[in-house]
Amino acid sequence: MRKIIIDTDPGQDDAVAMLLALASPEELDVVAVTAVAGNVPLPLTEKNARKICELAQRTDMPVYAGCSRPMVRSLFTAEYVHGPTGLDGADLPEPTMPLQSQHAVDFLVDTLMRSDDGEITLCPLGPLTNVAMAMIKEPRIAGKIREIVLMGGGFFEGGNVNPAAEFNIYVDPHAAHVVFASGVPITMMPLDVTHKALATPHRIAAFASLGTAAGHAVAGMLDFFDRYDMDKYETDGAPLHDPCVIAYLLEPDLFSGRECHVAIATDEGPTIGMTLVDWWDVTPGEPNAMVMRDVDADRFFALLVERIGRFGR
Ligand code: BDR
Ligand code: CA
Repeated sequence: MRKIIIDTDPGQDDAVAMLLALASPEELDVVAVTAVAGNVPLPLTEKNARKICELAQRTDMPVYAGCSRPMVRSLFTAEYVHGPTGLDGADLPEPTMPLQSQHAVDFLVDTLMRSDDGEITLCPLGPLTNVAMAMIKEPRIAGKIREIVLMGGGFFEGGNVNPAAEFNIYVDPHAAHVVFASGVPITMMPLDVTHKALATPHRIAAFASLGTAAGHAVAGMLDFFDRYDMDKYETDGAPLHDPCVIAYLLEPDLFSGRECHVAIATDEGPTIGMTLVDWWDVTPGEPNAMVMRDVDADRFFALLVERIGRFGR
């Protein structure tokens, strides 16, 4: 059983990732959910996180709000992808469960400092602001974290915000630099993986056929997500990014990649937010991340449907 903290900016794909984790109590103990500004501003991401906990009937889950903007840059959001609420397509009620009063960065520091070494895995699904700010506030947490499994970056696949950068890293490249330089073991799910996990109409229909509230919410969200990305990429479905992080914790052999040195471009200009992945090991930098490149998409979606199908049974 792995203890995880999900740091997230829901976002439809973040929501599916949360549901996958909450549907998997035999393998994952979700200690808390921390929200960060990203796809939409913080007041929406923390509210959306609570909506998803309620959909999963986990009103006991502590949800914390963290940073409302990146460390250095102004906040760049993605309503153009996710809709004005961040969860368009799901049609979920306003949450009634509370938001915790503690700031997410303080929660991360306190919880990690109280934990045993290597006890907690962090799962960042959005910009890395909360995690980096916690590392700056209390550098000793780096020695506590078992592993960081994150969605972010892209190399052979390029970027999705501009030709060089993926959204999560682009929004807060300075935070990404802090995290990738921290020495904590990192597993990275870049666009090279997530662009192979396409939510095709056939795969979305499998969620709708579950006939449950969670199945319909997932189908609705993915259907909404599809409209923008299918036009953009001219594919038969939108990439389902963030659930790759949780699927890796459940079935690591769905993914393959290699250990690489990863640096983050933080200079203002056309490459800001680029992940410089030394895939061919042509620079002296030591590997600091397990960088995934491939996924067995059919098995990945089969896992998702099976787990989401556990809600409402
Ligand atoms: C990432 O950016 C967000 O839009 C998604 O939620 C995902 O975390 C993909 O680039
Ligand atoms: Ca996200």
